[in-house]
Amino acid sequence: MSIYVAGLFDVAGKRALVTGATSGIGRMIARGLAQAGVEVWVVARGADDVDAIVGELGGKAQGVVADVATEDGIARIAEALGDRPLHILVNNAGTDRPTPLDAEGREDFDAVLGLNLTAPFLLTRKLLPQLEGAASPGDPARVINIASIAALNPGHLENFAYASSKSGVAMMSRHLGRHLAKRNISCNAIAPGLFPSRLTEQFLGMGEADEVPKAFVSPLGARAGEMDDIAGAVIYLSSRAGAWVTGVLLPVSGGISTVS
Ligand SMILES: NC(=O)c1ccc[n+]([C@@H]2O[C@H](COP(=O)([O-])OP(=O)(O)OC[C@H]3O[C@@H](n4cnc5c(N)ncnc54)[C@H](OP(=O)(O)O)[C@@H]3O)[C@@H](O)[C@H]2O)c1
Repeated sequence: MSIYVAGLFDVAGKRALVTGATSGIGRMIARGLAQAGVEVWVVARGADDVDAIVGELGGKAQGVVADVATEDGIARIAEALGDRPLHILVNNAGTDRPTPLDAEGREDFDAVLGLNLTAPFLLTRKLLPQLEGAASPGDPARVINIASIAALNPGHLENFAYASSKSGVAMMSRHLGRHLAKRNISCNAIAPGLFPSRLTEQFLGMGEADEVPKAFVSPLGARAGEMDDIAGAVIYLSSRAGAWVTGVLLPVSGGISTVS
């Protein structure tokens, strides 16, 4: 690799916090960042899973057991970080529950919006001191929100809360991108296509070895997303290469976001 390219994408020595890093996309991001020399802080509710991924990442990885959908959980994360500068915040934890038109009640709708949309906003707001501690004019602190291709096209599932929350994440990222710029913090969103995870297993029966369902076959081929696809996007946005990018929604979907 050329010295130029190595420097352009270098993120070694930064500190990142990844919510929902014990499974699926968050785990891929945490593993990719750790392999790139980043000190990764892993957040999830399951204590055993947090211990396991911290052990797997090794090095300087740290774990925080917290529910980001609660104010207590968000306070615990801020307290654990203390006054350490935070270069990269990846708001990844998310969920989906069916919210069909013929269902009653609002519990599921509220829970999806609470975790997918409200929590990234509240956590970002809470961690502004740590982000500002890592921010400088040429090298902003990065907030990276994991949205979804569901933000772009209505899907075939009746998951109205999920699509609305992810569309909200996309707009919130643009809005935050504009307002955080004066504090030398960028904010972008990534819209993943299909990746193997607990979430997709629950809805699509798609474990790591399974075939990609027809509705999710992308123009770039019948495969699911892999660690390098999502970690590569996060590393790009977190490195010198992505330092002048804010407020964008970056689909990482094999092009499925180009077809409805
Ligand atoms: N997989 C896909 O194809 C896909 C596509 C587009 C977008 N996405 C988005 O990518 C993100 C990750 O999804 P995934 O599919 O990788 O999900 P996943 O496999 O279900 O993993 C979810 C992660 O979030 C954690 N989590 C869940 N609720 C939490 C809470 N209240 N507080 C803290 N951590 C919590 C889980 O651990 P605990 O349960 O132990 O807390 C786990 O680590 C989500 O925002 C999702 O919407 C996924």
